[in-house]
Amino acid sequence: MITAKQLQQALAHISELIVAAEPRLTEIDTVIGDGDHGTGMKRGFSAVYELLRENTFSTVPELFYAVGMELLKKMGGASGVLFGSFFISGSKVRFLNDEEISLSEMALMLQSGVDSIMKRGKAQLGDKTLLDALIPAANAFKDSVTQGCSKKECFEKAYNASIKGAQDTIAMKPKKGRAKNFQSDAIGYPDPGAISVTYIFTGFKNIMSKE
Ligand SMILES: Nc1ncnc2c1ncn2[C@@H]1O[C@H](COP(=O)(O)OP(=O)(O)O)[C@@H](O)[C@H]1O
Ligand SMILES: [Mg+2]
Repeated sequence: MITAKQLQQALAHISELIVAAEPRLTEIDTVIGDGDHGTGMKRGFSAVYELLRENTFSTVPELFYAVGMELLKKMGGASGVLFGSFFISGSKVRFLNDEEISLSEMALMLQSGVDSIMKRGKAQLGDKTLLDALIPAANAFKDSVTQGCSKKECFEKAYNASIKGAQDTIAMKPKKGRAKNFQSDAIGYPDPGAISVTYIFTGFKNIMSKE
């Protein structure tokens, strides 16, 4: 099981990782975008960090909803809307017990996040976006749950898949977002949003593999 408290801890840790990654994200978005991805992520996740420091959320839906709304309000850019809707849609999943969710419910929450991003952004796998890290991670998580893996293993496999997915974007030609303007010149660089996704799964893995 995964408690709301653990998820809150993980999201605070993820916020720290993303804030620290700002220079790397800025550098990549400067080459194949407009250079604002790092500062947008830093602004959004600094606000999330403060929110989580000042409030304790006892249920998973309340936690995800508050995090999603904070990102939507503070972040801006395409990815602000997309990451915001990721968490908001996760908050709408019907959990058996809102205070403590199962691994299969976590898999459902990841899937609903993927679906909402695809619905909003109309991108597909292979378009060189954050989905190229997120979809493989969500699928790896779901497959690990189906295979009966431990919580630690499920989060490790999702993390590994996100890293591989982000790595795979290096060879891709962008089909969505601002990177599209760079066409073949973007080949050789990873998608900045996909790199951000790897920090989210790094954070989940670090906290969820503790026990
Ligand atoms: N339509 C889309 N679907 C999914 N992800 C997208 C889409 N458009 C952009 N992205 C993601 O957003 C990232 C760029 O975010 P950011 O720089 O914050 O926004 P902006 O493109 O408005 O400058 C990209 O690296 C990509 O991963
Ligand atoms: Mg940008």
